[in-house]
Amino acid sequence: MNPRLQSLQSYPFEKLRKLFDGSKPDPARRHISLGIGEPRHPTPEFIRRALSDNLEKLSAYPPTAGSDTLRQAIAAWLTQRYALPAIDWKTEVLPVNGSREALFAFAQTIVNPSKGLPVVVCPNPFYQIYEGAALLAGAQPYYVNTTVEKGFCADYSQVPEEVWRRTQLLYVCSPGNPTGKVLGLAEWREIFALADRHGFVIASDECYSEIYFDEASPPLGALQAAARSGRGFDRLVVFSSLSKRSNAPGLRSGFVAGDAAVLKAFLLYRTYHGGAMNPAVQEASAVAWKDETHVRENRKKYAEKFDRVTPVMQQALEVQRPDAGFYLWARTPIADVEFARRLYAAQNVTVLPGSFLARDSAGINPGNGFVRMALVAETEECLEAARRIVEFAKHL
Ligand SMILES: Cc1ncc(COP(=O)(O)O)c(C=O)c1O
Repeated sequence: MNPRLQSLQSYPFEKLRKLFDGSKPDPARRHISLGIGEPRHPTPEFIRRALSDNLEKLSAYPPTAGSDTLRQAIAAWLTQRYALPAIDWKTEVLPVNGSREALFAFAQTIVNPSKGLPVVVCPNPFYQIYEGAALLAGAQPYYVNTTVEKGFCADYSQVPEEVWRRTQLLYVCSPGNPTGKVLGLAEWREIFALADRHGFVIASDECYSEIYFDEASPPLGALQAAARSGRGFDRLVVFSSLSKRSNAPGLRSGFVAGDAAVLKAFLLYRTYHGGAMNPAVQEASAVAWKDETHVRENRKKYAEKFDRVTPVMQQALEVQRPDAGFYLWARTPIADVEFARRLYAAQNVTVLPGSFLARDSAGINPGNGFVRMALVAETEECLEAARRIVEFAKHL
């Protein structure tokens, strides 16, 4: 067996299951989960139809680079969404089977394990795939805290020069999971300056980019920030997905875009790995990227939900509506793990302890004292959960 598998941590949801072991919540209260960040609004009918209308395409192997139609649709979306001067659909765009597999595979392509002791820098708390990707690629993960005191921005000044020298890859997540923080131009310029000084690759995870609350100010993307800074896409690759944007997590469809030289290497890796996308999924994805109406409707649903649920949560917890994304990241009045355990037992509501999403770094676990709540269910169910949390907090 690959010994590196031993270094993988169990997934936060496994830790949660263990935490709840032996708990017997009141069966009269229906279980409500705010624990898992899986979209639950229905997948639009036109996307489902495009999938079923193209099943005859299953009789051929799809190209790993993706169809021209899909890559053109993605490039057009990117150009429009991020006001890019240009993006070459042939060399700067690659479809992937959801951002998760791509975020993982990317580290396997980028990290050179024979060069010193390679480091992969990631935010803390973070999406656990970054860590597993780094470890299996033979790199050491380095966790940079994103604390409330720093406005949920990564404090890169805490990273020693010696670590930057060994850094080969940096994961960035904007809008952030779990904090919802959207990076601005100044933060991106700091990241570009670090990458250019130390020569590492930036992987910008933007899979929550289309869930935001003000139609007039969509989150800034990394390619957009690069274009605005006159920098170009050197060593910069973004990861995006239909899972949240189009409520299609089961479709397994996303893309990477950016530096053509890096994507050429990534395509080579994917050819061997077997990363080609199902051709019917490619057709459904192309129509999804071409349509914005369903995305606006989806956003409206989230905006209404956050408007109604956040004030109720605020009766019990210190919490703000995020910049973007579908999580509330709330400070807990008692230790986060204890809060989640007792809430489940008393109210049959699941929330995810923040410390399960973070590691100790610079002397703290920045997830301590927070819980993540995914507002993915319909509004009434989220409201019911919020009311139960208020009730629970009264008795602490
Ligand atoms: C931060 C982040 N990145 C990536 C993903 C993966 O999404 P998908 O593979 O569905 O595109 C998730 C899923 O929850 C996520 O939270």
